[in-house]
Amino acid sequence: MKLILLGPPGAGKGTQAKRLQESYSIIQLSTGDMLRAEVDSGSALGAQAKEVMESGELVSDELIIKMISSRIDKDDCKAGFILDGFPRTTPQAEALDVMFDEKGLKLDCVIEMQVDDEAMVERITGRYTCSACGRGYHDSFKKPDVEGVCNKCGGTEFSRRADDNAETVRSRLQAYNEQTAPIISYYGNKGILKSIDGMAAIDDVTKQMKDLIG
Ligand code: AP5
Repeated sequence: MKLILLGPPGAGKGTQAKRLQESYSIIQLSTGDMLRAEVDSGSALGAQAKEVMESGELVSDELIIKMISSRIDKDDCKAGFILDGFPRTTPQAEALDVMFDEKGLKLDCVIEMQVDDEAMVERITGRYTCSACGRGYHDSFKKPDVEGVCNKCGGTEFSRRADDNAETVRSRLQAYNEQTAPIISYYGNKGILKSIDGMAAIDDVTKQMKDLIG
């Protein structure tokens, strides 16, 4: 199964992709996570992406397309994957079509997560993750069971993303509305677009997705 999760920053793409990954044994491919790993590794690609990401703008189509094309050739993608954060522009969506044709792959479904922009600022500025295992939390919506201790690994160090401040979030929302929202109709015209209510509680959003996927 090959899926795309579409939605603005904070829509819950990463949260739901991780859940679908576990339920369907398919892998989450987050271009944001891949870029952050490049930044952390100190690679040339990471150096190129760092400043762009921290400003809330989009990294170049060429770089992202190359990165995703080589990633989906890896063995762990054979059983299927969930694209989280890609495509994000019309050229990326068109390049993905060409890529799938060349690799003999078929896109099963594009799920659009419909949310309210203003609520996304609160979701993103309250988000943090366990530094040891990456489990995600939120100041209001998803706290660890024991304050300051990760539910998954017991870690006590947490971190916040450099681009998760109110000012950058607004630039990211603007980039989404100007550059990414147009691809909703791109997939609508292909007849593979489904929409869900991303403002519902996290478990309910998962249920809506599973009902769609079957
Ligand atoms: P990326 O990492 O993809 O960030 P994003 O799209 O801005 O999305 P987020 O990760 O912020 O949000 P999400 O939808 O995954 O929400 P989450 O599940 O975490 O990209 C970062 C940057 O990299 C970009 O700005 C760009 O520069 C670059 N980049 C990446 N891909 C690119 C591409 N293809 N082309 C060009 N540049 C690219 O949830 C958010 C919070 O809300 C969490 O705390 C969560 O617990 C909570 N939450 C989730 N769902 C709910 C719910 N239903 N109710 C209440 N709280 C919820």
